[in-house]
Amino acid sequence: MTTRKTPTRRRFLSAAAGAGAAASLLPAPFVLAQTAKVKVGILLPYTGTYASLGHNITDAMIMAIEGAGGTLGGRPVEYVKVDSEADPAKAANNANKLIAGEKVDFLTGPVHSGVAMAMVKIAREEGTITIVSNAGADAVTRQMCAPNVFRTSFSNWQTCYPMGPEMVKRGHKKAVSITWNYAAGHEMIGAFKEGYVKAGGQVAKEILIPFPNIEFQAHLTEIASLKPDAVFTFFSGGGAVKFMKDYDAAGLKKSIPLFGAGFLTDGTLQAAGPAGEGIITTLHYAESLANPTNKRFTAAFKAKTGRPADVFAVQGYDTGQLLVHAMKAVKGDVKAKKEIMAAMRAAKLDSPRGTMTFSKSQNPIQDIYLREVKNGDNVVLGVAQKAVEDPGRGCGMT
Ligand code: BEZ
Repeated sequence: MTTRKTPTRRRFLSAAAGAGAAASLLPAPFVLAQTAKVKVGILLPYTGTYASLGHNITDAMIMAIEGAGGTLGGRPVEYVKVDSEADPAKAANNANKLIAGEKVDFLTGPVHSGVAMAMVKIAREEGTITIVSNAGADAVTRQMCAPNVFRTSFSNWQTCYPMGPEMVKRGHKKAVSITWNYAAGHEMIGAFKEGYVKAGGQVAKEILIPFPNIEFQAHLTEIASLKPDAVFTFFSGGGAVKFMKDYDAAGLKKSIPLFGAGFLTDGTLQAAGPAGEGIITTLHYAESLANPTNKRFTAAFKAKTGRPADVFAVQGYDTGQLLVHAMKAVKGDVKAKKEIMAAMRAAKLDSPRGTMTFSKSQNPIQDIYLREVKNGDNVVLGVAQKAVEDPGRGCGMT
């Protein structure tokens, strides 16, 4: 926050907030400004294959703000939710609804990388401070990076690159990858391949399936005929549950071990049952992490929602934490955008995933964990790669 010698409107307002009865003596617009709600726009999927992800992000973000007193910088909060339906074709319209229509102070979401690219394009043009709370589209913190765009989740590259050397280390030198045919799928199997080939592995085939199709049978037959040493995959939400069950039912899990981006086994293990057992993944979180913040967080999320926490809830929680931190720094003055962005850039969040800071392109710098599903839990085997920073290629801010 800038320091000025003369009494500023902002200081006047914060003094007024503590002044109780004296507030009634203030000119009406000043009092209104301080009590006016901070509008937080949320563009997330509440229907379709990614619905559970949207709900966990939303509930945990609100939980973080409620945990800090339910206000942002002392001001009440209004949450404005729009169902993205994980549909890139509707993304520009939906983002405009929140930015131009609702005039939100902050924009958060989405889950789907294609939706993110359309949303961020508009947020950059309008200057709305935006926190991407899931979608990993690499471009968001590369070519499309901007001072008003932050990400509390991951880049697609970050979560999958470390799996390449890990699979080679385990003796799996020939792999097939399989995923949905859209930006997140392409970038995740691409990042895996980059690390895998560098370590001496060979990708025999990349199988792409239209999003959100879950008809896997013909592709599993093809995998069986290709006889790779292992399979690498990205699916999430309802599609991930179906993929794990079909892979197991086809009898492949015993002969061709299944690896993936950790989204495959996060928030899906209850529904997958025994089909999830033994799957090895990389991700920036595991529910079983033993740090005290994670213990408090998982218990609080379970108590609030009745559901187990997962990586999506963590990202929502950290989005809430970031809003609390930045709005505290400006004492609730949403107009102080430069100062809000500076506070966000400098934030060091005590996240359930471990300490989280931002790179110059405003993407998290974070450890990527190696996990294996054992007795229905993602058990941490170790850190696959420490303090992973997205290369941020093409971002002018780095
Ligand atoms: C994505 O589209 O970026 C994405 C969707 C679900 C989980 C992870 C990434």
